[in-house]
Amino acid sequence: ARLKRKNLARLIDAQLPKFIRALLRQLGEVADTLDMKIYLVGGFVRDLLLRQENLDIDVVVEGDGIAFAEAFAKTAECRIRSHQKFGTAVIVLPDGFKIDVASARIEYYESPAALPQVEHSSIRHDLYRRDFTINTLTISLNEESYGQLLDFFGGQRDLKEKQIRVLHNLSLIEDPTRLFRAVRFEQRLGFRIGRQTERLMRGAVRMKLVKKVGGARIRNELRQILDEPQVISALRRLEQFDLLKFIDPHLHFDRTTAQMIVSAEKTSSWFDLLYTGEKYHRWLLYLFCLLNFLSDKGLQRVSAWLDLAPKYRDLLLQLPPARKALKRAYYRAGSGNAPKNSDIYHWFNGLSLEIVLFVMAGSDNEQVRKWVSQYVTDFRKVKVLLDGNGLIELGLKPGPHFHQVFLTLLNARLNGEIRTLEDERQLVREKFVAVKK
Ligand code: CTP
Repeated sequence: ARLKRKNLARLIDAQLPKFIRALLRQLGEVADTLDMKIYLVGGFVRDLLLRQENLDIDVVVEGDGIAFAEAFAKTAECRIRSHQKFGTAVIVLPDGFKIDVASARIEYYESPAALPQVEHSSIRHDLYRRDFTINTLTISLNEESYGQLLDFFGGQRDLKEKQIRVLHNLSLIEDPTRLFRAVRFEQRLGFRIGRQTERLMRGAVRMKLVKKVGGARIRNELRQILDEPQVISALRRLEQFDLLKFIDPHLHFDRTTAQMIVSAEKTSSWFDLLYTGEKYHRWLLYLFCLLNFLSDKGLQRVSAWLDLAPKYRDLLLQLPPARKALKRAYYRAGSGNAPKNSDIYHWFNGLSLEIVLFVMAGSDNEQVRKWVSQYVTDFRKVKVLLDGNGLIELGLKPGPHFHQVFLTLLNARLNGEIRTLEDERQLVREKFVAVKK
């Protein structure tokens, strides 16, 4: 038979944590009680063979995946979410750990099922729809064949040869997002896109198939690429395949952009070392670098096409004001006239952390970088201690002019002119209470 068999039970024991092993056994047992075949599929199997950690469990059962998930839920404490339309379910364990369950359609054949070409036909059919050979490897979880590796499409060969290959010539036409996925896997795994697959990719690009996919799915692919550790080489590869034009016709990845991303990587490592515990989107930082040379209109166009969520779109539209802030800082550095801390604060205040980090990455002037870093580490967190009631206690009448009072206090605090709450009160009395009388 063409099908190569191999048992991976020992590799599973050696590589996977105990709770995963227990879970895999349990999945097999539940499937056995329902007389269903169950298989581990996808990235989990690929990464197991590559000895890389991956805890995203995907299983396919032959038959009704939702019924399987429901039966599993009776044997273990968990919740399930099912999607009738797709015949899929997600099993969610109490600690949040998830298992994805999909259904393979049962195939009926007239010839007896003992024939090798008919055996496993359902799972084989399911795997045939997948993107690359290295993602079609599967491991049986039923007890009698636990750990058996099934390799229908040469996935093991391609793992060994470090090749990204599609299964058949129509793969990229069926799903053009695979053009981006091919680049992502190639760069992540340090593999090479196979020759024939490369030819098919170039053909698909010429046919502009990606345009039919829609911006939202492209955005999703782009985001995953920007989340990978090898951002620069992946973007360079997208440029080589002429895929960036599907993000925007004016987009190019050149040396300047590459340098900008190197700098963004450094800036984000610098920020991570500050241990502020603040969450930020590193991929956005890289996206800003990539889109930096678009005009304001171009930014609008790209955020509409990619259908960015409003919160991300708003951030993208902060790029033009951020550029202005940077210009102001450069001008000041050139003038030799040192800014006050409060000046620096107001250049950048109102911009998101991602944008400010981007500005820092984008400045090649030592002095400017220092100012931005001071803003990030110190100034942006400075707060006035007095509140509205505090001002009223000091004898001020509430009103819009409070804004001016707070601003004066904030600037004085930023510039080190006051420190304590009493300092603040004193300043208010001097500057505002006295004037009133
Ligand atoms: N898949 C596909 N075509 C796509 C997206 C996904 O064929 N456009 C298949 C792949 O074979 C993949 C499986 O669906 O193995 C699950 O998709 P995903 O979770 O995106 O892939 P993983 O291989 O798990 O990738 P990652 O390691 O990035 O999670």
